[in-house]
Amino acid sequence: MINLPRGTQDILPGESEKWQYLERKFIELCSLYNYQEIRTPIFEHTEVFQRGVGDTTDIVQKEMYTFTDRGDRQLTLRPEGTASVARAYVQHKLHGHVKQPQKLFYHGPMFRYERPQAGRMRQFVQFGVEALGSADPAIDAEVIDFAMTLYQSVGLKSLRLVLNTLGDQQSREAHREALINHFTPVKEELCSDCQVRLEKNPLRVLDCKKDRNHESMKTAPKILDYLTEDSKDYFEQVKKYLDELGVEYVVDPNLVRGLDYYNHTAFEIMSEAEGFGAITTLSGGGRYNGLVEELDGPDTPGIGFALSVERLLMALAAEGIELPVEHALDCYIVALGEEAELKASGIMKSLRMADIKVDKDFLGKKMKAQFKAADRENAKFVLIIGDHELEQGIVEIKDMSNGTQEQVSFDAIINYIKERI
Ligand code: HAM
Repeated sequence: MINLPRGTQDILPGESEKWQYLERKFIELCSLYNYQEIRTPIFEHTEVFQRGVGDTTDIVQKEMYTFTDRGDRQLTLRPEGTASVARAYVQHKLHGHVKQPQKLFYHGPMFRYERPQAGRMRQFVQFGVEALGSADPAIDAEVIDFAMTLYQSVGLKSLRLVLNTLGDQQSREAHREALINHFTPVKEELCSDCQVRLEKNPLRVLDCKKDRNHESMKTAPKILDYLTEDSKDYFEQVKKYLDELGVEYVVDPNLVRGLDYYNHTAFEIMSEAEGFGAITTLSGGGRYNGLVEELDGPDTPGIGFALSVERLLMALAAEGIELPVEHALDCYIVALGEEAELKASGIMKSLRMADIKVDKDFLGKKMKAQFKAADRENAKFVLIIGDHELEQGIVEIKDMSNGTQEQVSFDAIINYIKERI
């Protein structure tokens, strides 16, 4: 027996209906908020993520599935969606499109070589939205509201929205300087990764899991103290819009995101449900005004977020929420005898063409076992056809909700069922 690779999962019938349900919910909400779908490849040139996500991030340094193909190209299974969307935006010159901002959504598998645990997979599915081409704080609020509304629409209640600003270029440089000055005296006490981070990208030090409890972390300079007036203003506007939309949030100046492209607004949504597990982040996002330019496009503002379906399902389970997905057939055909079996196939085809969900037995089971199967499939009606019925050109239709039974001629079956479902 060959098992699936570590950090991946099979989603079997019974469970897959939940995934389809969530996908439908997401797409419906995208339509309400006017986001349109973009589909990009599962793999990209490695450079897209090196330049997009950032060379010093854990994702690029440690977590990418990178391979050389037979034509000697360096390719990577996408670890996230934003860099790919920005790459496509540049390639197809979407910045020149009349419709601005471009409001896009995507859903599909992402790949990260992480240590698997509950809620942390090597292949996981993200739903994400990206709005490119607008630097209006109203759209930051729209994206955040979208995320919260999606969770609320499936019944989640124990949510916490954490908000921060990472400021503009100038704020970030001042903060960077302050971080270097702060951590350099204790450099030797930090982990080897942080010693490198301190030189390449000191903000990353704040995100270190190993050095989280080091004394110097508590007193580290906060971005909020280095914000330019413009950045402060922008953040205030975002909050105003969130208030207007009735979105509750807490500001956490220590929130830094794990990807390099962010500036200004950054946010994460956590589950506060009891027993959710160690990893409580359900989704994250923020503004990435330099990303399109980094990928050779024009200077373009952007904001977006992504969630994973795996963690969404965990949050639903933790809050005891059952999704309204039930597997049910309109009809099940119980056929007895060779001739009846043949006729049953024909009837089944015509019912299906009339949008009636129907199935029958394919294992030559006895009548009782066929009825059992009909029950298991939650069939609303059972059509019974044997030699006697064949001769008369009728079927017996049993209404499973009340046990009543009627004879219906072949050509009246579709109407009979349609009137009753
Ligand atoms: P991220 O924070 O790396 O951001 O991932 C977003 C979400 O994907 C996380 O909050 C989490 O729910 C889920 N996720 C990440 N890694 C895993 C994993 N190994 N297993 C299960 N779920 C996972 C991004 O990916 C950005 N592209 C979000 C964004 C869009 N920012 C702007 N636009």
